Formats: sequence, structure tokens, C-alpha cells
Amino acid sequence: MSIRVRATTPTDDQAREALRGKPVAEHRPSENVAKPEGELAFSVSDLSLWYSGKQALTKVGLDIARKQVTALIGPSGCGKSTLIRCLNRMNDLIPGVTIEGNVSYRNADIYGSDVDPVEVRRRIGMVFQKPNPFPKSIYDNVAFGAKVNGFRGNLDDLVESSLKRAALWDEVKDDLKKSGLALSGGQQQRLCIARALANNPDVILMDEPCSALDPIATLKIEDLMRELTTDYTIVVVTHNMQQAARVSDYTAFMLTDEEITGQLIEYAPTETMFTQPADQRTEDYISGRFG
Ligand SMILES: Nc1ncnc2c1ncn2[C@@H]1O[C@H](COP(=O)(O)OP(=O)(O)OP(=O)(O)O)[C@@H](O)[C@H]1O
Ligand SMILES: [Mg+2]
Repeated sequence: MSIRVRATTPTDDQAREALRGKPVAEHRPSENVAKPEGELAFSVSDLSLWYSGKQALTKVGLDIARKQVTALIGPSGCGKSTLIRCLNRMNDLIPGVTIEGNVSYRNADIYGSDVDPVEVRRRIGMVFQKPNPFPKSIYDNVAFGAKVNGFRGNLDDLVESSLKRAALWDEVKDDLKKSGLALSGGQQQRLCIARALANNPDVILMDEPCSALDPIATLKIEDLMRELTTDYTIVVVTHNMQQAARVSDYTAFMLTDEEITGQLIEYAPTETMFTQPADQRTEDYISGRFG
């Protein structure tokens, strides 16, 4: 169950460094990685990734709990988006990417040769930083995936229930024919969440879903995330420490330093992470000393 798109040990960068006589940093995985309680959605181990030979993740290993919110935090460029995109094979779409290691989703290797990446992305949906509704009506935005997949149920019901789950129904129920682009930023983001929910996913990945939103719209999305954990697993990248503390059950702190790019420094229940971080670098980051 191991991914090996192309053999890359040592990496091109490491090989070049070694030729220049520089010692190549030995990466020792962090000891401060908690094991979540209960059922798992993902199990990631020894995950490394290179963009055209340039390393962006180094041997990341963590388990992600089902029906909980897991936050990924860390300074810009530390590999948060790269890691979250590995969870639904979105990086496959980027040319020149090499991945090594294991990502299993409910005990199945999502990079297995018999796995359909389109089905992976349906079950493991994604919401992006900038709301990206299609230039279509609110109704058609939500119904889009179902129509493409030949959904045979009642589309009106699907649109209504998805908009209700995304806490947007009351605001748009009389305007379903209006363009999705005519909504406010926060409404557009909830529309994108409704669109993801209409595909009947199990997991929703969110990469900085609130960074383009004002504080009130942000709180609405945060409330929604908490509500959705009754049925869904949520993994969220955020730069906002208060947000991680408010919404997540578990937090992973990542860092790139001079020697090792995209490493997991600490992973713990959110409360522990924010009150008793085990690693000095975590403490420095969450107390705002860098990043
Ligand atoms: N499509 C890409 N092609 C090449 N390099 C990339 C690509 N995406 C990310 N990188 C590089 O990989 C490293 C990790 O980037 P990533 O976007 O995962 O960081 P991040 O933690 O999400 O940062 P931010 O907080 O700024 O969003 C960076 O050095 C970045 O330049
Ligand atoms: Mg990012």
C-alpha cells in the first residue's frame, strides 16, 4: 500500500547538497504526535512530496479522527495546503508532483492502483480559500454534481436539503434562480459548502475557508463546521489561531526550517496544543512569536 510515483531517494535537492559536501539533514519524525480516540477517517504515514524535485513534505505521519474537526496550522509555505490536497488526491492534478508514503482513508489506500481518483474526490470534497461558485444559478450550483453524475432522485429535495445543511436555505430560498455570483462572500462560501454536500461526501477538506470573509461571515462558517461534525469529518487549514482553538478537536502544527521542509512538529487534542504545547516551536508559533 505504498505510493511511489517515481523513485526519489535521495531527493534531487539532497543529492545536490551531498555532492557539495553538505551534510544531509536526517529527519526524525516528531515524538509529539497523538493518536486520536475513536474511529479514524485517515491514516497518513511517512508521507513525502516533491514539486518538480523540490521537497514540500517530509515524512508526515498522523491519524485523523472521523466526525471531528482537525485543524492544520503553521507559517506560510510550511506545506499545509500540500498536505490537505494529499488527502483527496488533488495534487495528482499538478504536473511534476512525486509522492511517497501512505494515505489510507477508512483503511483503503487512496493511491491504490484500483482506486478511481474521481470517486475519491466525491467522497472527500474540498472547499477553497476563495469562494468559487460557478457562473450559474444558486440552484444549478448545488445541483451540478448530481446532474453530471446522473442522479435519479428528486433534485429539488437535494438542493433544499444541501442548502439547509449549509445554513444558507433561509437566505436564498426565494432566489434560487439568482446567480451564485450575486451572493455575498460568506454566502458564496456556504453555497460552495452546499455544492460539496450535495455530492454526499464523507469528508470535507477546507483550505482557509474564511480568509476572504468578514468576522460575522467567519463565525457563521465556524458554527457550520461544528454542526457538520455530526455527519462529516472536517479537515481545515487556518492561519487564524483563535479559529483553530474555537472549531477544532485536534490540531496539527507544521513547520519548514532551514533543514527540513514540511514537517509535522506536533499533533494533539486542540485544548492540549493550546494550553500545554510539548514543543517549544509550537509554543513560539501559537504565542505569535513567529509566522
Ligand atoms: N503547485 C505548486 N508547484 C510548485 N511548488 C508548490 C506548489 N504548491 C506549493 N508549492 C511549494 O510547496 C511549499 C509548500 O506550499 P503550501 O502551499 O503547501 O504551503 P502552505 O502552508 O499552504 O502556505 P500558505 O499558508 O501560504 O498557504 C512552498 O514552498 C510552495 O512554494
Ligand atoms: Mg496554503
